[in-house]
Amino acid sequence: MRHYTPAPVLRALALTALLPALAAGADLIGAETCKACHPSAYEAWKDGPHARATASLTEAQRQDRRCTSCHAPDADKGASGVGCETCHGGGRVYAQAYVMRDRELARAVGLVEPGEKTCLACHTESAPSLTRFDYAHKLPLIAHGREPAEGARRRGHGE
Ligand code: HEC
Ligand code: HEC
Ligand code: HEC
Ligand code: HEC
Repeated sequence: MRHYTPAPVLRALALTALLPALAAGADLIGAETCKACHPSAYEAWKDGPHARATASLTEAQRQDRRCTSCHAPDADKGASGVGCETCHGGGRVYAQAYVMRDRELARAVGLVEPGEKTCLACHTESAPSLTRFDYAHKLPLIAHGREPAEGARRRGHGE
């Protein structure tokens, strides 16, 4: 006999299984780990300004909180530059395929949806830019996202 288990119950069960990992704290897994499943997003990031934000600083500046707060905010957790997880949240718990495919579950365990406000935390008036930060104009300059194959798979399943 088959039992029908509603989605919220399944999600609660999955959450219970994941909670110990959440409690463990240290939540960053590094861009190299995201790369395994998001190779094109990784390449776009690697070639972009955020991956090299630490490299723009001198050795002395890399020890200076007044610089690292924007150029290497996760340096104390071993991550260089402005990494995937600086914007998307620490991936220790959400970075598993079955979690990532579940929008609600992924967000419940740390996936952050970045937007204009995320950028403005660093792209402030004090950043050395000649023009005011314009989200619509700047977002395309760091364009990255889903794997083309993932998009096709999703459409194939009629989601
Ligand atoms: C084991 C494979 C795997 C790893 C590792 C992984 N992801 Fe994912 N990710 C996926 C899959 C699968 C999806 C769902 C793609 C889809 O449905 O088109 C996804 C979706 C996403 C989404 C969109 C989710 C949404 O609901 O909006 C973001 C953002 C994302 N991943 C970021 C990351 C980041 C950042 C990391 C590293 C910290 C990471 N992923 C690591 C497999 C992975
Ligand atoms: C409030 C966030 C913030 C802080 C704090 C900050 N920066 Fe930056 N920095 C930025 C942003 C954003 C840019 C890119 C600006 C642009 O080109 O529009 C940038 C650009 C730079 C660049 C130019 C990089 C290039 O490739 O052209 C250098 C060098 C730099 N910063 C050094 C520093 C140093 C040194 C400090 C500490 C004294 C510092 N920054 C503190 C946000 C910050
Ligand atoms: C500076 C912040 C920032 C960094 C760094 C960053 N992302 Fe993103 N990411 C975003 C934003 C903002 C979006 C949504 C863009 C949009 O609205 O089209 C996004 C979208 C995505 C998506 C598609 C989500 C969807 O629902 O279609 C994936 C997957 C993703 N990022 C993975 C990564 C990975 C992997 C890395 C590191 C290799 C990374 N991101 C680095 C800000 C960032
Ligand atoms: C944690 C701080 C931080 C966040 C959050 C952040 N940036 Fe940046 N961004 C930087 C720094 C630092 C640089 C300069 C990197 C370098 O060259 O050293 C930069 C450079 C850039 C550049 C190249 C310079 C320019 O202004 O044309 C673009 C484009 C950019 N960021 C877009 C974005 C967008 C879009 C978002 C939000 C989705 C975002 N950034 C979020 C810190 C940040």
